[in-house]
Amino acid sequence: MLRFLTAGESHGKALVAILEGMVANLPLTEEDLDTELGLRQGGVGRSERMKIEKDKAQILSGLRKGKTTGSPIAILIENTDSKDREEVLTRLRPGHADLAGALKYNQSDVRNILERASARETAARVAVGAISKKLLSEFGIKFENRVVSIGGEKDGSKWEALVKRTGEEGDSLGGVFEIKVLNMPIGLGSHVHFDRKLDGRLAQAIMSIQAIKGVEIGLGFGAADKKGTQVHDEIFYAGGKYSHGTNNAGGIEGGMSNGETVVIRAAMKPIATLKKPLNSVDMATKGSCKAHFERADVCAVHAAAVIGSAAAAFVIADAFLEKYGGDSLEEVKSHFSGFML
Ligand SMILES: Cc1cc2nc3c(=O)[nH]c(=O)nc-3n(C[C@H](O)[C@H](O)[C@H](O)COP(=O)(O)O)c2cc1C
Repeated sequence: MLRFLTAGESHGKALVAILEGMVANLPLTEEDLDTELGLRQGGVGRSERMKIEKDKAQILSGLRKGKTTGSPIAILIENTDSKDREEVLTRLRPGHADLAGALKYNQSDVRNILERASARETAARVAVGAISKKLLSEFGIKFENRVVSIGGEKDGSKWEALVKRTGEEGDSLGGVFEIKVLNMPIGLGSHVHFDRKLDGRLAQAIMSIQAIKGVEIGLGFGAADKKGTQVHDEIFYAGGKYSHGTNNAGGIEGGMSNGETVVIRAAMKPIATLKKPLNSVDMATKGSCKAHFERADVCAVHAAAVIGSAAAAFVIADAFLEKYGGDSLEEVKSHFSGFML
């Protein structure tokens, strides 16, 4: 079983992750992680922080002479922008964890909530996803991601101007991104129990990314308005292999991969910290106020697509090791070549 935990705050000293259950003898470098971390910091609409901070991962354990050892892999990503903001924050921001978090954890300084709720935490998830992708690449499984739309606009040539204009108006944008997982073997996940279903596991991992409000697989919500004959993918057999005529299921049927490309789309809400702040309440006085504003992205859909693909990679690596597992890469390879469907 592959598991990981992360810790760290947005402006704390560092983010850390511990990945447990990764096989031994997987070739791995810190650069493998840095490549994905760099992609997470890109895209239109990002804040100044992306310019002052270039994420770099240090692998502290579980790696020796360029290969994993089977021990837990500890990863450290230092925050260059680690300045603790001293002032007490009480003006709640709608669309954030501020209100529920402050009440639940009995905090009078909302910063104690927002520092951990921030999407800065996803840098650690991206690092774990990069290791997961490295494992899956040994078996030909590849990940692609793309932004489908920003603020409802599908024409990518218009995004930069749209985001700039929206930012100047003090507003923000969300959008839709898509992840594809290519060369999937048949049978990852299972139909036998709710928490083993691959679609459910992917949805949880992606829905848990900050600001993601919808996840669909294949036709997703689009399937609801169509007839059965327009939706279900016909099955064929040729040259010793099964295939489907179409891929409306997005590569998953009955909670298991069916050998087709896994296609996931996710909807991201507009960024909640606004230069044109919404009405809110000051927790200290209980009086009305304008929501607190501090440096924020205007749009982060490109970054969310990178994070989504990392989240999907972890789930698929976990399901992959469940099926073909072993303690070393060699052992998993022998299981894979013997039983690959
Ligand atoms: C890559 C990425 C960057 C984000 N940047 C910001 C930001 O700069 N400002 C902000 O208010 N929210 C940002 N968010 C979203 C918030 O973290 C998120 O909306 C908030 O924590 C509340 O969680 P929820 O939207 O999942 O309910 C970002 C999300 C992602 C995935």
